[in-house]
Amino acid sequence: MKVLTACLLAGVSLLARAATIPTGFVKAYNQKFMLGSAEYTLVGSNSYWVGLTGLNSTEMNQAFADIAATGATTVRTWGFNEVTAPINYGAYYQLWTNGTAAVNYGANGLQNFDMVVAAAKANGLRLIVTLTNNWSDYGGMDVYVSQILGAAGYHDDFYTNPTVIAAYKNYINAFVSRYEAEPGILAWELCNEPRCTGSPGTQSGACSTANLTITTWAREISAYIKSIDSNHLVGLGDEGWFNEPSSPYYPYQGGEGIDFNANLAIYTLDYGTLHLYPFSWGQTTDPIGFGNMWITDHATSQKNYNKPVIVEEFGVTNTQNQTTTYTSWYSTILSSGMTGDLIWQAGSYLPSGPTPNDGYTIYPNETTLYEMETQHAAAIKARG
Ligand SMILES: *[C@@H]1O[C@H](CO)[C@@H](O)[C@H](O)[C@H]1NC(C)=O
Ligand SMILES: *[C@@H]1O[C@H](CO)[C@@H](O)[C@H](O)[C@H]1NC(C)=O
Ligand SMILES: *[C@@H]1O[C@H](CO)[C@@H](O)[C@H](O)[C@H]1NC(C)=O
Ligand SMILES: *[C@@H]1O[C@H](CO)[C@@H](O)[C@H](O)[C@H]1NC(C)=O
Ligand SMILES: *[C@@H]1O[C@H](CO)[C@@H](O)[C@H](O)[C@H]1NC(C)=O
Ligand SMILES: *[C@@H]1O[C@H](CO)[C@@H](O)[C@H](O)[C@H]1NC(C)=O
Repeated sequence: MKVLTACLLAGVSLLARAATIPTGFVKAYNQKFMLGSAEYTLVGSNSYWVGLTGLNSTEMNQAFADIAATGATTVRTWGFNEVTAPINYGAYYQLWTNGTAAVNYGANGLQNFDMVVAAAKANGLRLIVTLTNNWSDYGGMDVYVSQILGAAGYHDDFYTNPTVIAAYKNYINAFVSRYEAEPGILAWELCNEPRCTGSPGTQSGACSTANLTITTWAREISAYIKSIDSNHLVGLGDEGWFNEPSSPYYPYQGGEGIDFNANLAIYTLDYGTLHLYPFSWGQTTDPIGFGNMWITDHATSQKNYNKPVIVEEFGVTNTQNQTTTYTSWYSTILSSGMTGDLIWQAGSYLPSGPTPNDGYTIYPNETTLYEMETQHAAAIKARG
């Protein structure tokens, strides 16, 4: 055990010499992120898995080193895993039994997330930490709803039911307070891709942009986070849907219950987020062109509301012309003034095997794509 600890510490300090350990807190100022008086360029990748798939500290360090080698400053990851029975593989942060949640502070709980934060910092990276999920992967919203309200609960009760909201705040309080003074955290995010819709038949019918359901929830939860942690930025983590019902494009029509501009106006949200998946969203006629329009229109909102906006997830799969697509989108990110971006998603070959590949993953030996990330990080840093 002692030998193991010594090895781990030696590994961390070797890496630490190459990277600048983050100190201080990143702030939003007009359309930029700032660290003290210097601009902080938000560029990097997503790695939802780094804390969830049973990696040890050495492997987490390798995964972050592979991201940092592109010139990235920032990684987005999951700060949640709701389970209804203890699991033996990977980490979970909350265990639900009979409608009651217990935060897992143990070695496969928040102590595991401590290792994620330490490994990111050792590689000079800051984390955007998302605190729950619309999707059922790793538990998410539907576990709160079904545990507290049973089978009668609707997916969107997550946004309105007072008992569910209190349970989510309880989790937020445990997680956020633990890292309140931690400069390795860049931002907290309220939810990955919140939508009104759940599985077929699980919507209440009351969740909509007209009823301001998710906007009202986002205002309450973001204000709550600010009340317990004034150091860190707060974002929503949504896909950036506009609320323009007459638009010919589904992502602009507001049907998923998100109004990007209404949310960007929320005082306690420091920046706006958009995701970009033309193939998943039925935008297949001109996926590259759709993406360029989507980026440009969000950059216009960024200017109108004078807040940073980031393309915090984007991708096409390895059968959908990644090189051509990313060349075009990166160029538009740079020219539109879009504040920053995080590609979906990072990958590494580790001693325990390759990290998850959903068809979007870019491993370091995929030299064309990996080199594109590196060139883009340099270009957006140079642009300022
Ligand atoms: C949960 O409820 C079931 C059925 O009422 C009961 O048998 C079980 O002991 C409860 N578990 C806990 C941890 O309270
Ligand atoms: C949101 O997540 C639920 C499961 O939690 C999923 O069934 C639903 O498809 C997601 N919403 C949409 C419209 O993708
Ligand atoms: C708004 O919510 C009410 C219930 O509170 C519901 O009856 C109504 O259909 C909702 N409106 C829309 C446009 O979703
Ligand atoms: C990839 O690009 C080629 C040439 O531009 C085009 O023919 C093909 O349809 C594209 N494939 C996809 C999936 O968009
Ligand atoms: C970390 O995990 C990998 C893969 O299981 C293993 O090869 C390695 O020895 C572990 N390192 C430490 C320090 O435990
Ligand atoms: C990258 O390395 C892995 C593991 O060694 C290998 O399986 C894969 O074929 C390599 N890919 C490329 C594009 O070289």
